[in-house]
Amino acid sequence: MVETYTLNSNLTKTAAVAEWLQQRIDWQIYLPNQRVPSVRKLAKLLDISSFTVVQAYEQLVATNVLIAKPSSGYYVNTQAKLAQPNDDKRAVIKSPVIDTRWLLQVFNSTPHHRSPGSGTLPNSWVRNDKMEWAIRQVTQQADDFIYNYGSIQGYLPLRQQFVQHLNTLGMQTHAENVITTAGVSQAVTMIGRLLTQIGDTVLVDAPGWYWLTSCLQQQGLNVVSVKRDYQGPNIEQMEKMFATYRPKLYLTNSVLHNPTSYNLHPARAHQVLNLIHKYDAYIFEDDLYAPFVPNGQALRYASLDQFERVFYAAGFSKSMASGWRVGMLVCPEKFIDDVIRSKILSNSNTPEFGERVVHRLWTHGEYRRQIKKVQQQLYAAHERLREALPKIGLIYPEHTQAGMFVWVDTGQDTGELALQAYKEGWLVAPGHLFNPDAIASTHLRLNVSTTSDEFLDWLGGYLSGSNYE
Ligand SMILES: Cc1ncc(COP(=O)(O)O)c(C=O)c1O
Repeated sequence: MVETYTLNSNLTKTAAVAEWLQQRIDWQIYLPNQRVPSVRKLAKLLDISSFTVVQAYEQLVATNVLIAKPSSGYYVNTQAKLAQPNDDKRAVIKSPVIDTRWLLQVFNSTPHHRSPGSGTLPNSWVRNDKMEWAIRQVTQQADDFIYNYGSIQGYLPLRQQFVQHLNTLGMQTHAENVITTAGVSQAVTMIGRLLTQIGDTVLVDAPGWYWLTSCLQQQGLNVVSVKRDYQGPNIEQMEKMFATYRPKLYLTNSVLHNPTSYNLHPARAHQVLNLIHKYDAYIFEDDLYAPFVPNGQALRYASLDQFERVFYAAGFSKSMASGWRVGMLVCPEKFIDDVIRSKILSNSNTPEFGERVVHRLWTHGEYRRQIKKVQQQLYAAHERLREALPKIGLIYPEHTQAGMFVWVDTGQDTGELALQAYKEGWLVAPGHLFNPDAIASTHLRLNVSTTSDEFLDWLGGYLSGSNYE
């Protein structure tokens, strides 16, 4: 069993629980309108009585932090006050390792060499010498397109290039079924809204990308999760989830999965698609890490299904430049008109400048050369960790692929570990962030490109207790 969080022992139990939850609201783990853990779940997590949790929740209702919804649970009040950088409350927060900055900006403001939990590669890995050239090229044509809204579906040559690329991965589609988005994130929000209504259930992986769960909950959806192992989602549990909750959508990052860097096994993919058909559901397949797969060779749901029940999204945030916010989404044909309407009614359009720059760079040989180099660097970084982790008593998980991350079981509560690391200037990614229920975890997500020997020394010392003797 994993360890639970510790409560502030200087307070009464009720006040300590109220503080525990208030901190997590301040840190935006629980967002406005989002349901907080049920009384029973939190009591179990904190190892206290349900009565204490109810008292703490009622106290937070009285102070307008929570709202109680009959037979539904407790929700974060949209008016709930969040801690501001200079807020006095902040002084009370002991070690704000997972505050707002965690979910938004923190990794941008912490140097990569201090961020083994970072979600991006160092700029020196992704910077492309031809970027300025591509921008100049597009600038020279700017007059033609910047005064118009442009194509709602997105820059056609980029969509055509994407279709050709998908062809090489065994997916057949055409540019009319592709729409550009402001990153994979916008594709998630659009498809979530299109296929569901408030109160519907959707299914995600556990562990999985933490932004996804928060985003779906923000849309008023009931997010349930299925355990993911090195082959894919646990199929027995998934069947139970479908039978119990009838989710309309399963959202997954099938290849070089964040946070495990696992791929998808063909037999498992086949079983999942059978369930999708049986329960009349759809898959949102997020393939953001695709550029790091050598020769692109890994199985995707979309290549088996050919866009009958799979929405497939990809982008350039990790491999080229997250700031351009360029993503691409392929839709099953019957949904494309609805998705276009949804794009018009949300953003009207996505900026064509960035799409043109990305297209220039993507079709230039220099980008392919550089991505190959990144793949080699990732491979070498994994080999290094495969050797280094056992030296500090940790196991490098056997089925890890050469993606950005390795998901390591430390045997200790990584929430506590993250707090201590933060005090000592390290930013790490504790496992509970990747669990849709935010349950305490012994896992740690390590970014292989930013996990230095110095950090591994610190981690070894922390785990053996020798840092604090
Ligand atoms: C699995 C996954 N999908 C999508 C994203 C965000 O993609 P984008 O920047 O294209 O919106 C991330 C960012 O970390 C991610 O880990």
